[in-house]
Amino acid sequence: MSGRGLILGIESSCDETAAAVVERGAHTLSSVVASQIATHALYGGVVPELASREHLRAIVPVVRAALSQAGVALADLDAIAVTSGPGLAGALLVGITYAKALALAADLPLIAVNHLEGHIHAVLLNERESAYSGSMGNDDESAPEDDPALALVVSGGHTHLYLACPTGNTWQYTLVGRTLDDAAGEAYDKVAKLLGLGYPGGPWIDALSQFGNPSAVPFAFSQIKTKLHLAGKPPRTKAARTAPIAGLDRHFLFSFSGIKTAVLRYVELHGLRSEAEARRDALFTGPDAPARTTVEAALTVTGKPTLDLIASFQHAVVGDLLKKTFAAAESLGARSILVTGGVAANRELRQRFTAEASQRKLSVSFPTLALSTDNAAMIATAAWPRLLAEDFAPPELSADPSLALGAPA
Ligand code: KG4
Ligand code: ZN
Repeated sequence: MSGRGLILGIESSCDETAAAVVERGAHTLSSVVASQIATHALYGGVVPELASREHLRAIVPVVRAALSQAGVALADLDAIAVTSGPGLAGALLVGITYAKALALAADLPLIAVNHLEGHIHAVLLNERESAYSGSMGNDDESAPEDDPALALVVSGGHTHLYLACPTGNTWQYTLVGRTLDDAAGEAYDKVAKLLGLGYPGGPWIDALSQFGNPSAVPFAFSQIKTKLHLAGKPPRTKAARTAPIAGLDRHFLFSFSGIKTAVLRYVELHGLRSEAEARRDALFTGPDAPARTTVEAALTVTGKPTLDLIASFQHAVVGDLLKKTFAAAESLGARSILVTGGVAANRELRQRFTAEASQRKLSVSFPTLALSTDNAAMIATAAWPRLLAEDFAPPELSADPSLALGAPA
């Protein structure tokens, strides 16, 4: 590598079209994200066909904006990095095809990045940004941190625990735990939909949970035990397909489909369904709906029992993530914990993980809020050690919707 260490990252695995320019995996020159939330919100979840169409529309202007905001031309770059999986096949293909064409046209190497590794590197990017601004960067600077870290990747598609070990310029990942069914963010989205709130559900539940009693409804996670028979069977859900569970310690397995059903049952039993339907109408129907789509408006049409249910749901989910993550860190001797992915934006999660880490004398790090959800700066950052190692993608690179990260221990 002869240049400034500039990588253009491209991300299109789900419902965000993103491009970013990052210098030496440590300094973000630009990070552009075109969200498709408005398109998918109408359906209460991501519609794969619409996602591909929207990526096709957005990819050229988003990449152009990332280059122009960074003040660089294609000729200034050292490599192009693209998410090759896991994610939606058609969505991934838009980013991969465009990245390949750009790399070919500009005679640049192409680097394939696993989306989950990208989320882990979002935390590292944060930490290096401040160091970088002091010293203007050199190769040593992005030399990996020395100790193994326990990484919790928790988003709409994933709830995975990895032991991340730096080895020379690269990282090795060992899968330690994961969800057997829904991802935590998926549970947030489904519960929000059930309660007549918006998509994505995480930010709504995060905001409204402050107004309820988190101990009002005691949710249990004992359902996991009964799911162990699924080990060795073909995975049935999006989240489960990205990693095998054979060989994993059952104490580090998650299951979020049970709590979603428990919320549904609670809503039926306590007669909260009509309130949820009225809330959906009040917040989301009619031409002037955008003006009413606010947390303040939601509070005016949400009774105490629903607020208590929301706070209790969040308390239980965060408590389960916390318990298993710290148990895995302790069992594997990891002194630092990284929490990343869309759900890492959650306020209660950040507070409780920070308090628990300080009590146990461990370190815990999160990305900034902007880097928690899908973005391309994390993809360009994860590609930096690959560029140093000249680990480039083959010309026949294609989308791998179930791409796994690391092997079970
Ligand atoms: O990382 P991300 O943007 O996309 C995936 O790779 O899935 O994560 C999106 C997920 C959604 O399920 C969304 O509801 C959740 O992250 N999320 C949150 C919060 N903000 C986003 N969940 C809980 N609290 C939040 N503040
Ligand atoms: Zn993601």
